[in-house]
Amino acid sequence: MDRTLAIIKPDAVERRLTGRILERIEAEGFQIRAMRMVRMTKREAEGFYAVHRDRPFFQSLTTFMSSGPTVVLVLEAPDAVRKWRELMGATNPAQAAEGTIRRTFATSVERNATHGSDGPETAAFELAYFFRGLELTGE
Ligand code: CMP
Repeated sequence: MDRTLAIIKPDAVERRLTGRILERIEAEGFQIRAMRMVRMTKREAEGFYAVHRDRPFFQSLTTFMSSGPTVVLVLEAPDAVRKWRELMGATNPAQAAEGTIRRTFATSVERNATHGSDGPETAAFELAYFFRGLELTGE
């Protein structure tokens, strides 16, 4: 079993899409192992997205991600990282496949409804950013 970090972003929480996104997650066979509502500070968003700090969209992205509450989740499934990225669809909703979460709910590349770790190492960093080991035992 693998785990990945998912975030329901401020745009989706604000638009009351949390329930519908959670429903998709469970319907696709993920086990939710941990979940919390988090309003990140700008600094916390910058720490989370530190790998993107030299990108032109970094300031805008971290301002947006700290603009309202998010829901952070630990998802478990075989091949969870890849499977969650597939269910989200492409970063840019205009390029996301029909039926994916971003195609259905996202409104722009920034306000794209959800986040997912992009590989196993990123997942380890991102899971630990929000959840303590004790919360992740899953037993
Ligand atoms: P996410 O999966 O959270 O990872 C980094 C985020 O940066 C990404 O989703 C987008 O929301 C955002 N992002 C990526 N590329 C761009 C871009 N070209 N312009 C604005 N935001 C972007």
